[in-house]
Amino acid sequence: MPTKPSSLSDRANAVQPSLTMSISNLAKELRQAGQDVIGFGAGEPDFDTPDFIKAAGIKAIQDGHNRYTPASGIIELKKAICDKLKADQGLSYSPSDIVVSCGAKHSVYNVLAALINPGDEVIIPAPYWVSYPEQTRLVDGVPVVISAGAEQNFKITAEQLAQTLTPRSKVLILNSPSNPTGMLYTQSELEAIAEVVLGHDQLMVMSDEIYEKLIYGTNPHISIAQISDEMKERTVIVNGVSKAYAMTGWRIGYTASHSAIAGGMSRMQSHITSNPTSSAQWAALEALTGPQQVVADMGKEFNKRRQLMVSRLNAIPGISCSEPDGAFYAFPKISDCFGKKSATGVITDSMVFCEYLLKEAQVACVPGIGFGDDTCMRLSYATSTTAIETGLQRIQDWVESLS
Ligand SMILES: Cc1ncc(COP(=O)(O)O)c(C=O)c1O
Repeated sequence: MPTKPSSLSDRANAVQPSLTMSISNLAKELRQAGQDVIGFGAGEPDFDTPDFIKAAGIKAIQDGHNRYTPASGIIELKKAICDKLKADQGLSYSPSDIVVSCGAKHSVYNVLAALINPGDEVIIPAPYWVSYPEQTRLVDGVPVVISAGAEQNFKITAEQLAQTLTPRSKVLILNSPSNPTGMLYTQSELEAIAEVVLGHDQLMVMSDEIYEKLIYGTNPHISIAQISDEMKERTVIVNGVSKAYAMTGWRIGYTASHSAIAGGMSRMQSHITSNPTSSAQWAALEALTGPQQVVADMGKEFNKRRQLMVSRLNAIPGISCSEPDGAFYAFPKISDCFGKKSATGVITDSMVFCEYLLKEAQVACVPGIGFGDDTCMRLSYATSTTAIETGLQRIQDWVESLS
């Protein structure tokens, strides 16, 4: 019998459909109709998982690692994660502080589910990754958005945070480098934010560091947990192997936190998914402990594409793009084109801009409104330089044709 919409829970009803889906559906339709659409929507590396990591996954299956593991992950992987956090960030954790989950997305959910009571506020800087507000609603939390536009490099200030916090504020989400802007918080910016956080006893920080390895400028990646021991106690780090090692399909993410929080997440996970896939955990172990040159090689290629994309975007009158420090996204400002007319009609917002751009110039970009910033759009440079050259030429010709 088909489920009647009225039988859905309030929780399921509260989850918003992805605003960006309509653009990807339209792109799909146009491709099926034989049009040559250039897609800048990708949220994953276009590289394949490196061979030595694949081999470790295959070997794990052949060696019989095909049964349940401890719900929060195998000890070998937890130890490797602790070693990585020590080596890269100077942070000391023990295996009981680590929970391995089915992708960083699952880790984010675990953190919110473990920390949020109904009505608690989750502070989300915008532009944000689309899943943060939706996952907040799924755990009956209240998303509170702080807007940080292009004029402040898409980063919130300590003052904005201080003005926003209430006694119900329970979690601040930081995502550096950011999806969708690529921006990286500096040490002094994090110190100022940490000071505000430490002044609010109930407030925790979830630091989503999934793009940590993909940085291109001279600024290093710094976790807010590195600011002080006190701040480390207040932070849950989220990371994983998806983006750095081109392993999005393997679904391995993890958290590092105080063991009491790790214990809570681990108990919940034991009843929800049990362990993440056994063989994928062994592959992730190889990713973290094997040769790291692959990460640098992919980073070098992403950097070339980043420079190409940003310079092509800034050459378009009416579009401006700040240089992203990391991840693989550009987030240019397009609002100077609002009010202009294309062949289809007047461009009123980022959704209409992307819809007409796709229909008229066959280029798929993601409207900024999906990330909480209607003045911009997101383009992923996890695609070939040829696609970037062709796609950006099409965007330029289209924008120049607006009247
Ligand atoms: C900011 C951010 N956090 C977390 C994730 C989830 O990563 P995973 O594929 O490991 O679930 C993504 C994926 O797009 C992301 O952009």
